[in-house]
Amino acid sequence: MRSKSTPAILDFRRRLTRWYRRHGRDLPWRRTRDPYAVLVSEFMLQQTQVSRVEGFYHRFLARFPTVHHLAGAAHGEVREVWQGLGYYRRADNLHRLAQAVVERHEGRIPAESRVLMRLPGVGRYTAGAIATFAFERAEPAVDTNVARVIRRAFHPRARGTAGQRRIWQTAERLVPRAGNPAWTFNQAIMELGARICTARVVRCGECPVRRGCRTGARAAGM
Ligand code: ADE
Repeated sequence: MRSKSTPAILDFRRRLTRWYRRHGRDLPWRRTRDPYAVLVSEFMLQQTQVSRVEGFYHRFLARFPTVHHLAGAAHGEVREVWQGLGYYRRADNLHRLAQAVVERHEGRIPAESRVLMRLPGVGRYTAGAIATFAFERAEPAVDTNVARVIRRAFHPRARGTAGQRRIWQTAERLVPRAGNPAWTFNQAIMELGARICTARVVRCGECPVRRGCRTGARAAGM
């Protein structure tokens, strides 16, 4: 059972989601719920910036439009289309993943993060991202950006493995119900980490959740 949301959590969600509706970027993988397309975007975004991924994303999907096309492709062909993105292990894993999905899941990408995590190249973050961004599940997807937002806002002293555990626990409590609310919230917290609550420059003056933030509220003297 999920515990009841506190007023602080409800407020954080509401402000963040409202901000995202106005300021969130229109990115190609946010226009689709096709699990395969979402998966491709997540593999590309693992180590590459959004601005660089966009072109490769369209090119890859034009060449391999479905999981079946990718599973049936030759190894060299996949690497060729990946060329320029680097970190080729991601391409190899994505290719093996497509083959596993065809062999073990009748060509359908699973929606459960526990099942997703058994696929090549899928860790806890990517599993959560696919569950929520493709299937609108009420699951968190905590990448470096999201972890930084949650640490600053709720657990400024969280460090190490125990810190990571706390951050994931809070992420679980923050995600609203399945459907559009969960999808939007997860995109929004990721967007905040990428655009406002960044590693180097913290733009607390523009932050929609600074009032509920344990780092920003102090920085602004509130
Ligand atoms: N990085 C990983 N997933 C992303 C997404 N859906 N939007 C923007 N950046 C991301």
